[in-house]
Amino acid sequence: MRRKIVDIYFFTGTGNTLLAAKTIAETLKNNNCIVNVNDIAKTDPKKVNLSNTVGIGFPIACWNTFPIARSFINDLPNTIGTEVFIFATMGSSSLNAAANFGHILKNKGYSLIGSCGFLMPNNFIAVQKEEKNVAKREKAYKQMEHFASELVTSAPNHGKTNLFFQTCFAISSFIINRWKGNIFQRIAKFNITKSRCTKCGLCAKICPVKNILSENNCPVFSGRRCQLCMRCISYCPSHSIKFFLIRKTYRALTDEEMKRWFLCVKK
Ligand SMILES: Cc1cc2nc3c(=O)[nH]c(=O)nc-3n(C[C@H](O)[C@H](O)[C@H](O)COP(=O)(O)O)c2cc1C
Repeated sequence: MRRKIVDIYFFTGTGNTLLAAKTIAETLKNNNCIVNVNDIAKTDPKKVNLSNTVGIGFPIACWNTFPIARSFINDLPNTIGTEVFIFATMGSSSLNAAANFGHILKNKGYSLIGSCGFLMPNNFIAVQKEEKNVAKREKAYKQMEHFASELVTSAPNHGKTNLFFQTCFAISSFIINRWKGNIFQRIAKFNITKSRCTKCGLCAKICPVKNILSENNCPVFSGRRCQLCMRCISYCPSHSIKFFLIRKTYRALTDEEMKRWFLCVKK
């Protein structure tokens, strides 16, 4: 890494990718870097400082990532040689999506200094017990620390891509690009169980894309911006939000951390 001032941009639904961003940031700081951690949902990609090293993190969704993170990457300005590294968190398999996004950025003039996917607890279907999740996170933290120290000290670490992975990426990109369309948003419907809802308004406040309105403190899923990131289900204190049969899913953050990051304070 040539430039030791690093700006990390991450998107997270349920918190795994925030934990990854924080772990990588801490390791870089321990290696004499100055690091800022920023939420993609609150950042204009056109304002990214291209004279610093840029890190980008996102969760894997459908062997790709959510539209909001895809748009951020696609809308980054062209550059000449800005160093970039990419990391993804996933439940089981990413089909090397991080490396494929690296390819997109190389075509925009970025110099890819590393890309990696980390196995973290699944937050969608097949959610495991907390003991297993703790073990999975601990293993991932070690890999993240290794990845981050390699960024500073040694040869770049790239996930590999090839024709097979590129074809899978093209197909998953096609699917994700329809995520915001009418049909998808009608199928991917979240429901509120009114008898459970305590009208605390938390879901509307923490939705990263403001897709939940609060009408008299009753949540209303509006618009066509839902990313399916699972944040609302994950942190609803009364488990009143349902997506098909899913009412309760994984959460990576304590209530305190969640409030600090999602409700306003950025640190
Ligand atoms: C809609 C959706 C689709 C997902 N698709 C995949 C997938 O294709 N492969 C995978 O390994 N994990 C998949 N996951 C699991 C997440 O990538 C994983 O749990 C991730 O660490 C969540 O990060 P976050 O807590 O920062 O949102 C999916 C999760 C969601 C909500």
